[in-house]
Amino acid sequence: GGVRLWGGRFASGPAEALAQLSASVHFDWRLAPYDIAGSRAHARALHTAGLLTDGELARMREGLDRLEADVADGSFTGTVADEDVHTALERGLLERLGPGLGGKLRAGRSRNDQIATLFRMYLRDHARIIGGLLAELQQALVGLAEAHPAVAMPGRTHLQHAQPVLFAHHVLAHVQALSRDAERLRQWDARTAVSPYGSGALAGSSLGLDPEAVAADLGFEHGSSANSIDGTASRDFVAEFAFVTAMIGIDLSRIAEEVIIWSTEEFSFVTLDDAFSTGSSIMPQKKNPDVAELARGKSGRLIGNLTGLLATLKALPLAYNRDLQEDKEPVFDSCDTLEVLLPAFTGMMATLTVHRERMEELAPAGFSLATDIAEWLVRQGVPFREAHETAGECVQECERNGITLDRLTDEQFAKISPHLTPEVRTVLDVPGALAARNGRGGTAPEAVAVQLAGVKADLAVQ
Ligand code: ARG
Repeated sequence: GGVRLWGGRFASGPAEALAQLSASVHFDWRLAPYDIAGSRAHARALHTAGLLTDGELARMREGLDRLEADVADGSFTGTVADEDVHTALERGLLERLGPGLGGKLRAGRSRNDQIATLFRMYLRDHARIIGGLLAELQQALVGLAEAHPAVAMPGRTHLQHAQPVLFAHHVLAHVQALSRDAERLRQWDARTAVSPYGSGALAGSSLGLDPEAVAADLGFEHGSSANSIDGTASRDFVAEFAFVTAMIGIDLSRIAEEVIIWSTEEFSFVTLDDAFSTGSSIMPQKKNPDVAELARGKSGRLIGNLTGLLATLKALPLAYNRDLQEDKEPVFDSCDTLEVLLPAFTGMMATLTVHRERMEELAPAGFSLATDIAEWLVRQGVPFREAHETAGECVQECERNGITLDRLTDEQFAKISPHLTPEVRTVLDVPGALAARNGRGGTAPEAVAVQLAGVKADLAVQ
């Protein structure tokens, strides 16, 4: 049975229906190792404040060690009757140390400052795990770019052919977005390195405990909360974590959508490895991009976790409210989701086959070099407004005759504009168009090589 932490003023125990509603132990049990770490730090603070003797501290530590081992090997677990992880672990400590010593640990702390602290510790650990998995995906994408340094493809806007770009340039665009996500995780981690332990229920403690020492013990680099009300009541760190993980999901789903399109018969830009494709139970020929589709689908779930959480937080008065118990499942789910999705996604990207000929065949299609005609005219001194018109007329002439821009005859060019001398042909090939865009961030092979080196250098120091 349970050992409630608040029985004193109640004549009866909780109704079964309330106990079922109130229980969080089935999802907050994953915080047990952090709760025990918090208890160790708190015991030390009680000892420093003269509230535990040397001997009591030693026995308390030994009891916490045993409890930790029993939690780790599964011989001690929380139950619904325990309500939450904190209550369950207090029961475990009482069972091991007896009420005389076991009952001393709760002095000067509240589940409110405990949960606010443990939750930060858990999410910081998982921010690092997710950051590591993200770095592996970034490496896989960098590998893909490096393996195809000179492959041209149709660059698109509105999903229509726009201008040719290097495949490596396109892949690195995704890496840039993921790098910002990784940076967001690191900045979030630094912002979250503040410990609410010592805030008590909301007002701090009258027992002379040192929150800064507890913060240092628990690895919070930026010390303890400056305001105990804020320490126990704020969850913007959870919302921000949910945003960053949702953003990662969104960035994955944008890659996923392209992989799905690229692997269609019509595009045939890539083929997924068998190990990262699935079949159909009825159509024997099918090879489906399920990893990409699951990434696209799970991004919706990550977004839902964020929006649900924001709705929970909206208009909550200070300080702690029990609504805040609803803050954990969404982001636990976000961690679980990304930690299973990212390795599969990385595997898919690391093993896909790129069909160079197909991409390059389509790179100039859709009159994607029309801009090059216009910019060539600008270099001949023609105002861009007129150059744009002239290049547009070239496209019209091609459409009328069912030919590509490079098939226009000297006469056809001359008829459209006297500025269109045969030299215009020098820009009407894809490698020339790519090479011309050699400014920083452009799609020229040399510019992409510079970008690639920068991305690799950043990844190396992360
Ligand atoms: N299970 C609670 C939560 O997750 C812990 C804090 C409970 N505090 C309280 N006053 N009942 O928020």
